[in-house]
Amino acid sequence: MRIGVLTAGGDCPGLNAVIRSVVHRALTGHGDEVIGFEDGFKGLLDGHHRPLDLNEVSGILARGGTILGSSRLERRRLAEAAENAAELAGKYGIDALIPIGGEGTLTAARLLSEAGMPIVGVPKTIDNDISSTDRTFGFDTAVTVATEAIDRLKTTAESHQRVMVVEVMGRHAGWIALESGMAGGAHGICLPERHFEVEDLVKMVQERFARGKKFAVICVAEGAHPAEGSMDYGKGEIDQYGHERFQGIGNRLAAELERRLGTEARPVILGHVQRGGTPTAYDRVLATRFGWHAVEAAHRGDFGMMTALRGTEVVMVPLAEAVTRLKTVPGDRMLEAESVF
Ligand code: F6P
Repeated sequence: MRIGVLTAGGDCPGLNAVIRSVVHRALTGHGDEVIGFEDGFKGLLDGHHRPLDLNEVSGILARGGTILGSSRLERRRLAEAAENAAELAGKYGIDALIPIGGEGTLTAARLLSEAGMPIVGVPKTIDNDISSTDRTFGFDTAVTVATEAIDRLKTTAESHQRVMVVEVMGRHAGWIALESGMAGGAHGICLPERHFEVEDLVKMVQERFARGKKFAVICVAEGAHPAEGSMDYGKGEIDQYGHERFQGIGNRLAAELERRLGTEARPVILGHVQRGGTPTAYDRVLATRFGWHAVEAAHRGDFGMMTALRGTEVVMVPLAEAVTRLKTVPGDRMLEAESVF
């Protein structure tokens, strides 16, 4: 069998672990050939690819990023790929394509699969927002990085009697904010799923100061929005990939809190620090398991499917099922978090 592999969308710790696992299982387990397309679907469309052998994937398990490069695909080019899906597979002589990506990539994968390309998807995203899988690799690393940041910010906030507003990633789903906020013991968490009242945060800080705890850390997801009338904050424009351009809730909220409280409030935007660097042990293991199962699925002819974690088992689920809705944080998870603010 000849297998193609590519990584698309925002990068994520664990991508290299999947590539390594695919190459090992395919070459040594089945005697296959593997080629890697460069820079996501662009490599597939533009013919940029290279053979992947055991040496090529040696030493990459712990490396962040992706040795294949990644990119987001404009809708126009995606339509072009879908139109030529069956011919593209023939052109490269591939019997299966394993795209590793998030919601956008898996939606593209579904389109290509429906257009005749033999596809087995592997979900990735630090946001953990893909339905049908309990976890995506990359999420544990992002939460670990953000938790460490909150731990560190607490000590400096306390020394200077400041409010720290930590902005973490998460456009539509607040999983990173929820779990790093809980693990780091943040005093407030703001998620995209539930519009927040600035006044609630003001009261929380005032109560802490009144009982002698003269600092606070608030963890806010980049996609969080204040409730209407709670603070001046509009909606951003949509970019060419269909994403809302954010207006910097961390900066805006810190300024607003400082104004209302008369206490120094500093924003800290963690940004891509959460996505770079070495994956945690958990993410390396999950990524390796996904790679192994993707190759096995290709050999069974389980196309139009993706790997998923259900409990502790890796199973295959239809791509169509995985990309119909995002997995957002349910309301009761916030109740658990709030009880320890
Ligand atoms: O989807 C993963 C993610 O890291 C989001 O949390 C974030 O909003 C987005 O990607 C950032 O993408 P980019 O690196 O293209 O700005």
